[in-house]
Amino acid sequence: MSDSPFHSAPYAARSADAPVSRDAGSSGVPSSAPEDVGARAGSAAHAVPAVGDAPSCGTSPPHESARAQVQGLAPYVDDVPEPRGTLHAAPILSPVAHGRLLGMDASDALARPGVRAIVLEADIPGDPVLATFVHDEPIFARDVVQHVGQVVGLIVADTVQAARHAARAVKLDIAPLPAVLTIEQAMAVQSFVLPPVTVARGDAPAALAQSAHRLQGRFAVGGQEHFYLEGQIALAVPREQDQWHILSSTQHPGEVQHWVAHALGIDNHRVSVECRRMGGGFGGKETQAGHMAVWAALAARKTGAPVKLRLDRDDDFMITGKRHPFAYDYDVGFDDQGRITGLALDMMANCGFSADLSGPVADRAVFHADNAYYLGDVVIRSFRCKTNVQSHTAFRGFGGPQGVIAIETILGDIARTLGKDALDVRLANLYGPRGATERCTTHYQMRVEDNILHDLLPELERLAKYRQRQQAIEVWNARQPHLKRGMAITPVKFGISFTATLFNQAGALVHVYTDGSVQVNHGGTEMGQGLHTKVAQVVADELGVPLARVLVTASATDKVPNASATAASSGTDLNGKAAQAAARTVRDNLAAFVCGLDGCGAGAVEFRGGKIVTPKAERAFADVVKAAYANRIQLWSDGFYRTPKIHYDKTTLTGRPFFYFAYGAACTEVAIDTLTGEYRVLAVDILHDVGRSINPAIDVGQIEGGFVQGAGWLTTEELVWNEQGALTTKAPSTYKIPAAGDVPPHFAVHLWPEANAEDTVFRSKAVGEPPFMLAISVWEAMRQAVAAARADGKPVQMDAPATPERVLRAVSGAW
Ligand code: MTE
Ligand code: MOS
Repeated sequence: MSDSPFHSAPYAARSADAPVSRDAGSSGVPSSAPEDVGARAGSAAHAVPAVGDAPSCGTSPPHESARAQVQGLAPYVDDVPEPRGTLHAAPILSPVAHGRLLGMDASDALARPGVRAIVLEADIPGDPVLATFVHDEPIFARDVVQHVGQVVGLIVADTVQAARHAARAVKLDIAPLPAVLTIEQAMAVQSFVLPPVTVARGDAPAALAQSAHRLQGRFAVGGQEHFYLEGQIALAVPREQDQWHILSSTQHPGEVQHWVAHALGIDNHRVSVECRRMGGGFGGKETQAGHMAVWAALAARKTGAPVKLRLDRDDDFMITGKRHPFAYDYDVGFDDQGRITGLALDMMANCGFSADLSGPVADRAVFHADNAYYLGDVVIRSFRCKTNVQSHTAFRGFGGPQGVIAIETILGDIARTLGKDALDVRLANLYGPRGATERCTTHYQMRVEDNILHDLLPELERLAKYRQRQQAIEVWNARQPHLKRGMAITPVKFGISFTATLFNQAGALVHVYTDGSVQVNHGGTEMGQGLHTKVAQVVADELGVPLARVLVTASATDKVPNASATAASSGTDLNGKAAQAAARTVRDNLAAFVCGLDGCGAGAVEFRGGKIVTPKAERAFADVVKAAYANRIQLWSDGFYRTPKIHYDKTTLTGRPFFYFAYGAACTEVAIDTLTGEYRVLAVDILHDVGRSINPAIDVGQIEGGFVQGAGWLTTEELVWNEQGALTTKAPSTYKIPAAGDVPPHFAVHLWPEANAEDTVFRSKAVGEPPFMLAISVWEAMRQAVAAARADGKPVQMDAPATPERVLRAVSGAW
């Protein structure tokens, strides 16, 4: 074991358990990670929960459901007691990637005990095509099947098991057609779900021709299964007079409502959708929860009974879309410092058989192909390939990671080509700092006004002792014949707002009851990210009451209508502001009331510590509420918010699609075994910008979770479709998500201490997705280690995920 990366650290690696950071460290860590943490970057991640009079925002009360969740007392859809007579549905799946559906024999399935019905396209009273943006996806396949796992119909039975077994007994007669399974095949026959988009600035071909150096390359990154712990599920309950109630595990109850009404051929007002919480969504329940709900509702309509549809995990893998796999072709020009002087980049997205969210996902990849860097003369072409696989969909980062990894890979290649330190090349390419007038405009014509990376990156460099450790790694690598280490710092700059401007709106309701307790309801959904906790904190502080007095209730379309998806990391930005507005109206009503009693101006009234304070008197909040009620003062209100400043042209992809950017950077060290291709992530230091944190513990949790999920995407999570187009990695036995043991032994997360320059709620910044892209430092560290093993100076050719097989091939140069 003397050669093991776990016993040969050049530095003692334990990070001090300083109060400003979170460190999952254990002693004996092998990496060269730093011992101390910076004084400047700090967070209150360990701050105690707010007690008594203190405001809640900026402290870390636990997640509103944490206790219930660990006790098993927080119900998910499948835990809610079933209404009397509930039936269960199971999907009938196509075993063929592309083919004509000639016939079906369900006689055996229908003869089985407990089986009640089969539901097919003919049973759809409304539009047989789902109400998606592009309107290109049938609810049930009828004439043709378009991927292995496409849903042809449903079997409804008394029990889940009976339904599932019977569904498998349905015989389908399918005449196979040629299938398009890969990006290469789709590009060859120009098979697209949406037309290609080009974004250009300047004259890239001329700039490339004049560049001092030039590099061309091609690589690909894989997709990713969401692997939410709670699988897709919906329960559809018929109510009186053609009304329907749907319990759905969805990030977008409003969309589910709209889809169900569209399929049933009824008005939206007859359908109500409710979601208390999801056991994870990660983008996978942004549109694709709608399918379950529509199918369950159609089965409920046909049988007249409540119907639950809960997908088996393997079926969930086979039916639902994943992160889009991407392929890239690039041609980059650069100067002696590694500064980019021209770039032509083709990005090809594997979208699957229908458009779903592929348009906006591929757009966001284009918007993030610069990551944090000024690209100069550039042309980016984006192809949205149609293939006979699942319809790929939103996944944390929403195309952003697929854009960011392109430029980070290119910069890593440039650095190694020039024999320069990759961080120096990255620093040289950054957008101008705050206040700069040059190198500040993105390729889509938005000015970057809030670039903090000129401060943040050097701070992380110092925190992580990057320079010393790189030197030590070089020395170590020179002595080690078989193990090689690599280290990389990569930043992220992530645009916050839905790129579809209309979605940047939100509503909320704040109800104050006569005992002074408060209920808040908003259009966002809870998927574990802590949105409800943060919104409750905002409302508590606005009314000056303890957090325990504020309860957030289930997302429901009959409470706040027309709500956007909880996505694009903007849940708190949007719903926090809307809830704050609602609370402020109630507060204003109460302030006016006490002003009348005390004869003072409204500006003199303070709400804090559960009290309402005027220059003349201090009263308990609950007492004022009771008196206000008796005086017929309105104690509840709605609130509405729309994000200011944003606009953009959908056809040219130019304008200001984002309200602001969230920034961060990670320093990752890895070790690879050049004989087996195996590797370990040894140490990770993160410095991330969440603005002024509403709840530092929740934000750190999002950063840690996002990073590890990103590392999974780039290392162990490999989706394999076979030559017939069937997904063969469709269970945890073959599809490897990171587990607790994959958390790096040294994992230190620091929060950047500055407030958001834009007027967001509490001056916080969105946190859900941006840290995912910090895991690209794992990818770059691995490529650095591979380069150390090769020592031929050539760019490292490797596709993601960097499985041990791929690392081994990259080391041997046999790509
Ligand atoms: N965190 C948990 N625990 N579970 C999730 O499903 N989804 C991520 C992120 N963090 C997710 C999560 C995604 S894809 C998004 S867009 C945001 O949370 C959405 O929530 P927010 O807007 O409230 O941050
Ligand atoms: Mo997140 S991918 O925007 O749901």
